[in-house]
Amino acid sequence: MDWSPDGDAVRIIDQRRLPEVFVERDLCTLDDVCDAIRTLAVRGAPAIGVAGAMGIVVASRAFVDDTPDRFRERVRATAMAIRATRPTAVNLPWAVDRMLGCAASIDDSPHAILEALRREATAIRDEDRTMCDRIATHGLSLIPDGARVLTHCNAGALATAGIGTALAPIYLAVASGRRVEVFVDETRPLLQGSRLTSWELTRAGIPATVIADNMAASLMRAGRIDLCIVGADRIARNGDVANKVGTYGVAVSAHHHGIPMYVAAPTSTFDYATPNGDAIEIEQRSADEVRRGFGVLTAAQDARVHNPAFDVTPAALITAIVSDRGVHRPPYDFAPTAHPFAAAVA
Ligand code: MRU
Repeated sequence: MDWSPDGDAVRIIDQRRLPEVFVERDLCTLDDVCDAIRTLAVRGAPAIGVAGAMGIVVASRAFVDDTPDRFRERVRATAMAIRATRPTAVNLPWAVDRMLGCAASIDDSPHAILEALRREATAIRDEDRTMCDRIATHGLSLIPDGARVLTHCNAGALATAGIGTALAPIYLAVASGRRVEVFVDETRPLLQGSRLTSWELTRAGIPATVIADNMAASLMRAGRIDLCIVGADRIARNGDVANKVGTYGVAVSAHHHGIPMYVAAPTSTFDYATPNGDAIEIEQRSADEVRRGFGVLTAAQDARVHNPAFDVTPAALITAIVSDRGVHRPPYDFAPTAHPFAAAVA
């Protein structure tokens, strides 16, 4: 994710078009940004945080000639609209609130505030890259030579500003000469695993085998999976993890078969204010994603549908959580800590 060359837009890869075509898109207005996040043109918890922060900058250009007070009000309204696009991944409110803090701290002209916001958004993006690299380093010891790894959804480069979260230790393991084979859950209903993770891994030359979600348990039973690693959208203080729907089923199966279940996420995914997974709001998405995903009718036209985008995996099923700060093992109690980049931010 980057600024367009003139700095007037946020340039994203349109993930809705993958794997068929690689298309970049410039987001120039508030509507562009909100629509891209809601429709999953840009998706993945860290990526929507970064897109939200950068989106505030490009959308706020429209009122930079207002008075400072009016400008601040309109930046706030813009930020709140972006914050409301998706409710589950905490990275989005985390990034938006940081941008609002930045705007509030500058007592200067709208042009000066806008420039400070651009620097802050760029820092949020660059820090996300660094956090991915640190997750890779900390998680490397979890991926032995010859590992056969199961992953769910897409927690790779496409979902972040860097090399990914769950896929980061895999990329580093392969770069270090280890042989790794990845089984990729297709990830119903929007197929982020088969469309995005298999595309990403194949491009990187990493052996990836797509399976339908209902095949994972039998592969585990057959002894063909050594470990599972997934990303996260929100991690509660007690270590409960909200992630793409289906993650809970993977964790239950892994637990039953004695297979390690790892979660990888940056500091921006930890929600210290939420005591446990029951308090996490789960996004409900449109029935048509299930009834006619990608245009083909696959259920009765008027079938009732339940379509939560995420589920919660209890901490008791998670072997370890890898973050940019290290490998955390149970019992989990994630107390607020200084952000790893606090010095740079202050
Ligand atoms: O609905 P999505 O595609 O945004 O959901 C994304 C996921 O659940 C990912 O697995 C999660 O965000 C981790 S991203 C590094």
